Amino acid sequence: MKPLPLRPRRNRKCASIRALVRETSLSPSDLIQPLFLHAGNEDQPIASMPGCTRWSLPGLLQQAEKCQRLGIPAIALFPAIDETLKSSDAQEAFNPEGLIPRAIKLLKNDFPDLVLITDVALDPYNSDGHDGLVKNNSNGITEILNDETIEVLARQAICQAQAGSDVVAPSDMMDGRIGAIRAALDQAELSHTSILAYTAKYASAFYGPFRGALDSSPKNGDKKTYQMDPANSREALRELHLDQHEGADILMVKPAGAYLDIIQTFSQNSYLPIAAYQVSGEYLMIESAAKAGWLNREAAIFESLTSIKRAGANMILTYFASEIAEKL
Ligand code: PBG
Repeated sequence: MKPLPLRPRRNRKCASIRALVRETSLSPSDLIQPLFLHAGNEDQPIASMPGCTRWSLPGLLQQAEKCQRLGIPAIALFPAIDETLKSSDAQEAFNPEGLIPRAIKLLKNDFPDLVLITDVALDPYNSDGHDGLVKNNSNGITEILNDETIEVLARQAICQAQAGSDVVAPSDMMDGRIGAIRAALDQAELSHTSILAYTAKYASAFYGPFRGALDSSPKNGDKKTYQMDPANSREALRELHLDQHEGADILMVKPAGAYLDIIQTFSQNSYLPIAAYQVSGEYLMIESAAKAGWLNREAAIFESLTSIKRAGANMILTYFASEIAEKL
């Protein structure tokens, strides 16, 4: 037999050695739990996302308690808004008596140390289902107005921050919104409120189930004039530099699993913390394959989350957060 001095398998020979040489480990403090809520009194199962629930306010408080108990540092709120409150100017987005401000106040009162992340975008409030204000041109083309939208987003962010949100998270992909929101918050004496920017948010097929959960699919057109083309990575660096320069505190890549290269690029090109969002379609790919008996559910969840962290994410939004935190 030829001598073979270099044998990587020596570092894999037993579980204890593997534990010693492991480069990446998950902890509950890496995880952020997204939670859906609605104004009704019942907790509703979400048909497009089996295993997820649209929580009533009391149900939401119970989930927050669970996250805090499990050591999950933050939750991200996504509201399903009653159809009657949606309009083309998305006014409900900055109603101080609206669902999100009410939820923030209740949560902050009961769980002051749990970080609250609130989404800044118009899609749940907009009768057009777009993240920005829509102008339907006579030639049948749906235009998403950039600068007009930013003014509404700034009002929405102030409304959430005044109610007590710790982190506002613009997920809309309008140009210049981070700078405008930072300036508006600072002017309103909310300089302590952080901004988590959805910096590289791709126009992805993996958001489908989420839009079902909020009933927020665009009525006309698609989101490709504001969300990024999945084919591009250098363009993500441009967005990174803009958001960083405009005052973002945390940069996010979304989706996560199909964009690990972008997560790595971000962690190598910024000193800011990097978040990644394992989105609804990623969740459902694992859930449905596991349900069919085609893969080991828990192993697949751990592998997917470990890979996202290995790529460079400091924090991960995942619908599996509380389940996984319980097992860590
Ligand atoms: C919209 C928003 C979306 C998601 C989070 N915020 C959907 C979209 O851009 O159409 C998707 C999250 C998921 O799929 O889990 N502001």
